Amino acid sequence: MSNSTDETLAAVYGEMELSDEEFYALTDRSLAPRSAGMLADKLAGLGIDAGQHLLDVGCRDGDHTIALARRFGCTALGIDPVAHRIAQAQAAIAEAGLSQRVRAVVGRIEAIHADDASVDFIWCRDMLNHVADLRAGLAECQRVLCPGGQMLVYQTFSTDLLEANEAAFIYNTMAIVPQNQSDAFFENTARSVGFAIAEKDAVASEWREFWEEDGSRKTANQLLRIARMRRNREELIPRLGETNYNVEIADCLWGVYQMIGKLCPTVYVLEKYG
Ligand SMILES: C[S@@+](CC[C@H](N)C(=O)[O-])C[C@H]1O[C@@H](n2cnc3c(N)ncnc32)[C@H](O)[C@@H]1O
Repeated sequence: MSNSTDETLAAVYGEMELSDEEFYALTDRSLAPRSAGMLADKLAGLGIDAGQHLLDVGCRDGDHTIALARRFGCTALGIDPVAHRIAQAQAAIAEAGLSQRVRAVVGRIEAIHADDASVDFIWCRDMLNHVADLRAGLAECQRVLCPGGQMLVYQTFSTDLLEANEAAFIYNTMAIVPQNQSDAFFENTARSVGFAIAEKDAVASEWREFWEEDGSRKTANQLLRIARMRRNREELIPRLGETNYNVEIADCLWGVYQMIGKLCPTVYVLEKYG
């Protein structure tokens, strides 16, 4: 514990060279954060177009699969192990009138039902944290990609600011594989299965800042929800069940931790050799 010496007290309560107004003018201005839309824009920049085939691993209800197929005119396959989500994805694809060129099937990244070298681009957004055998998952992606094919990965890593007890709660509650929270482990694994890392882009808190600045206040709302859920535990746990209660808290913490630098969302472009 630090001592409240005259020196430290002076640092906390003494005069700063800047006035409050000058300080706030310096710190409370937008740093022009990028939005989540940067991800699809990055895919556009890789040169995807209509004759090509896209694989969306961990597609959940297919919203990104559909949006990407619409935007780029490509064919697409979404896979996810949760059958209920795939049923939603299939219904959404039919409703979007895209059944001719977009499919969604139950599947896992560790065993992709696709031929060798049959995919031009892979979209892998926010799912590798859950994959127990990361090497097997990335090796499958490498197998199905055409030579020179590219994989866009959005993945959140833990930083030194994340305390051990905070990590244990969110990993256990959200089915996260601890070793996958390391960027070094991810990069070494990707290289070991035959990928080159063409680009690494630390998004950090940018999407979160964007959602505050555009008025959607996603992270502020998550912070408020945590506070209310904690104060209203007695009512909520019998209504939601303890597991769902903890998942909701952990999900909100995930957002807050991204905002304050305990978690670092990062985007990679991986390229298959050859
Ligand atoms: C956080 S959600 C992300 C969904 C979507 N990609 C997005 O960015 O909105 C993670 C998804 O990964 C899926 N998932 C988990 N383990 C998987 C695996 N081994 N193979 C493929 N998908 C998996 C989950 O079922 C879930 O739909």
